[in-house]
Amino acid sequence: MDIEAFQNDLVQWFQEEQRNLPWRKDNDAYRVWVSEVMLQQTRVDTVIPYYNRFLEKFPTIESFADADEESILKVWEGLGYYSRVRNLHTAAKEVVSKYGGRVPDTKEEISKLKGVGPYTAGAVLSIAYGKPVPAVDGNVMRVLSRILLITDDIAKPASRKIFEEAVEELMYHDHPSHFNQALMELGALICTPSSPSCLLCPVREHCQAFAKGVQEQLPVKTRK
Ligand code: ADE
Repeated sequence: MDIEAFQNDLVQWFQEEQRNLPWRKDNDAYRVWVSEVMLQQTRVDTVIPYYNRFLEKFPTIESFADADEESILKVWEGLGYYSRVRNLHTAAKEVVSKYGGRVPDTKEEISKLKGVGPYTAGAVLSIAYGKPVPAVDGNVMRVLSRILLITDDIAKPASRKIFEEAVEELMYHDHPSHFNQALMELGALICTPSSPSCLLCPVREHCQAFAKGVQEQLPVKTRK
């Protein structure tokens, strides 16, 4: 594939068509982190009001770190997966005490924080700090399985590495934040799990699954 043409088509589409989402208003690392933790197991439409309320109540990482358990659980009430906010709270306290309130900007340091796995690390490092680090979730795996005809089983933990390497290969180094978010946005708006909108897809001419007409058979996902 012509990687440069792919990057340009993808990122240009993102700049024109991206949804106006509250966490896209600025690149503050704390805000990006909160949004990505919420988005991990919850749909965008559900997250929006929770995200807005959370940041109204805890506008800075210090205010969140200082909060008591009851109030952090209250603001999360209804979102579920409460270990997410407990871990976020533990990690925020550590960022305040150990890093003076600045979220670490290296993969090594950020990955030591409670609850920060490779996806969250990549999302924060790329979106907040502009680092060319992959942020691979299920949506990104679906998109890449189609574009590159990757048939590794996305349900297997070992497959993540394959997809991360694919993102590293394709990464748009001029703007990693837009590149990673464009892959997420493509998965949300065009390259959907069933009936993807290939005729509207900005990168369909780079897509191996579309060329073969097998987009609906990908990704390969055996067990849940
Ligand atoms: N899903 C996960 N992260 C996202 C983001 N930053 N924007 C939209 N959807 C997402």
